[in-house]
Amino acid sequence: MKDRLKRIAAESAAELVQDGDVVGLGTGTTARHVLQVLRERVEKEGLRITGIPTSADTRILAVKLGLRLSTLEEHPELDIAIDGADQLTRRLELIKGGGGALLREKVVANCAKRFVVVADESKLVERLKMPVPVEVLPFAWKPVELALREMGALDVRLRTGSGKAGPVMTDNGNYILDASFGEIEKPERLEAELRDITGVLECGIFCPAIVGEVHLGTRHGPRVLGQGREVK
Ligand code: 5RP
Repeated sequence: MKDRLKRIAAESAAELVQDGDVVGLGTGTTARHVLQVLRERVEKEGLRITGIPTSADTRILAVKLGLRLSTLEEHPELDIAIDGADQLTRRLELIKGGGGALLREKVVANCAKRFVVVADESKLVERLKMPVPVEVLPFAWKPVELALREMGALDVRLRTGSGKAGPVMTDNGNYILDASFGEIEKPERLEAELRDITGVLECGIFCPAIVGEVHLGTRHGPRVLGQGREVK
């Protein structure tokens, strides 16, 4: 069922892509649906797009699907970027980084004229409350962990994965700390505080200033949230 809702969100957002667009390609299972829908549009409509992938995982899928790719070096300004989220609110606050791609995702989102988020409706919450992924320089992970605890983190975990012993390495060669703060009352302030810690490269809080709209997949079809109001 969730997969169907992700596809609904992906179809709704992928409609926004126009011929000739440079498109930021997000990471995660919902973003994978977006790539699939874009490939279908390329085949059926002859849509010409250039994708900028936000992770190695997305790049590999895009190559497999035959999507044309480029880099931020060649295209530092994107027409649109479409990406998933782990948790989001009606006020367009997000937590991202479940797939460990938050740093490149935020760079790409910032370079895009329009940043569109896709998610199934289960991601919508009243207040952000899941642990916040924080990408850190490996050299600095311990002092950053202490700084996170000092600023009020209830728990901080160095992310580990499967298929490899030890910490997960991001595509940028860094570590991820997942820091729990309970319910986050002021995501914008927390984002600024986290980015201010020396050794932190980026955090997974995305604020309304860069989020243009959210396309939710629901049982009744797509639902679009934009800047605090429903627009579709
Ligand atoms: C990866 C992300 C993903 O967009 C986020 O984890 C959502 O993934 P999914 O669509 O698989 O639930 O931020 O870093």
